[in-house]
Amino acid sequence: MKTYLVTGGAGFIGSNYIHYMFGKYGDTIRIINVDALTYAGNPENLKEVETKDNYTFVKADICDKEAIEKIFAENEIDRVVHFAAESHVDRSIKNPEVFVQTNVYGTAVMLNCAKAAWELPDGSFKEGKRFLHVSTDEVYGSLEEDGGYFYETTPYAPHSPYSASKAGSDMLVKAYMDTYHFPANITNCSNNYGPYQFPEKLIPLIINNALQGKKLPVYGDGKNVRDWLYVEDHAKAIDMVQEKGRLFETYNVGGHNEKQNIEIVKIIIETLRDMLPETDERRAHLTEDLITYVEDRKGHDRRYAIAPDKIREEIGWEPETMFKDGIRRTIEWYFDHEDWMKNVTSGDYQKYYEEMYRAK
Ligand code: NAD
Ligand code: TYD
Repeated sequence: MKTYLVTGGAGFIGSNYIHYMFGKYGDTIRIINVDALTYAGNPENLKEVETKDNYTFVKADICDKEAIEKIFAENEIDRVVHFAAESHVDRSIKNPEVFVQTNVYGTAVMLNCAKAAWELPDGSFKEGKRFLHVSTDEVYGSLEEDGGYFYETTPYAPHSPYSASKAGSDMLVKAYMDTYHFPANITNCSNNYGPYQFPEKLIPLIINNALQGKKLPVYGDGKNVRDWLYVEDHAKAIDMVQEKGRLFETYNVGGHNEKQNIEIVKIIIETLRDMLPETDERRAHLTEDLITYVEDRKGHDRRYAIAPDKIREEIGWEPETMFKDGIRRTIEWYFDHEDWMKNVTSGDYQKYYEEMYRAK
């Protein structure tokens, strides 16, 4: 039975990955989820699995070396899947230090503890061990509106403190592979959407505001482009890279699904109007008049677009979820999980939202 150590498994992609893995492998794997439960981590995302014998939750910070060492000392870990990070660009613009701490230093701790646990006296590594570092396409910088794609060979050119800290963490993983021959892979994925995403990010924020008849804030001219991938397709890609990918390689993950932000906002309005019964009061307010163009994000990257040729050709991964289906499924999920949304938007979220959008 393989034992997976997942970091940041209580967040958006990590929790979807854990659900995907238990769905696929059932009781033939064991998962240990280490998460500090920051504002973005939510144990509710995992309530269906928390009583499973083959699932363990450890509340710890990845920067806490002793806590991470203890997990490796007490368990024979076969796979590390490293999601834990500070992940929101706007927060990184306001408060960069915590991004450097978690994303760079925290990754160094994870690498070092895995290396210490897996390294043999002759400097080689125990058979079959693998570390997967989950990263982002934002490390490659920004593309022109009609200016090509990000490949694995595209030079790094991060602009935000978030993407700079992720680039730093990627470089550390590369350094471990080059220096020690440490058994790792890196995946650089485009923007994800789906259930359990915290409503500071575009799609859940717009759904939440729209359902409340609140303004829908669109940064700048709304024409920035992101390449959206349904989160379950990302979870599948991560699993396939660990099982079939060549060690020491980087794989870009994305689905050629580029959309301008304003298109996304209009699709959400349309889909919600379509879903709400005529008699529902919210429907009357839900028009494009709610769209409000606000001050642009500082250093706002214009366009991201992944070329997923390598992962398709080498591993046979392809996105399976069409955007029109994935976005509907996502909106339905938020619609059916009002309590989840209420819980995560009480307290600190209100403060964040007011500070973030007051000036806009
Ligand atoms: P998220 O913000 O939803 O979740 C992050 C999780 O990490 C939370 O559960 C949080 O509690 C935990 N965490 C944060 N700091 C920690 C620390 N110091 N110690 C332990 N746990 C800590 O993020 P996400 O959107 O699920 O992203 C997961 C990973 O995927 C990140 O590394 C991110 O860079 C990468 N990624 C995200 C996207 C995207 O569209 N969301 C796209 C590509 C790559
Ligand atoms: P986001 O979901 O924060 O992801 P990222 O910045 O990592 O790509 O933002 C997606 C896009 O939506 C990005 O171009 C910024 C824009 N955006 C808005 O226009 N309004 C908003 O309120 C938010 C949160 C984002």
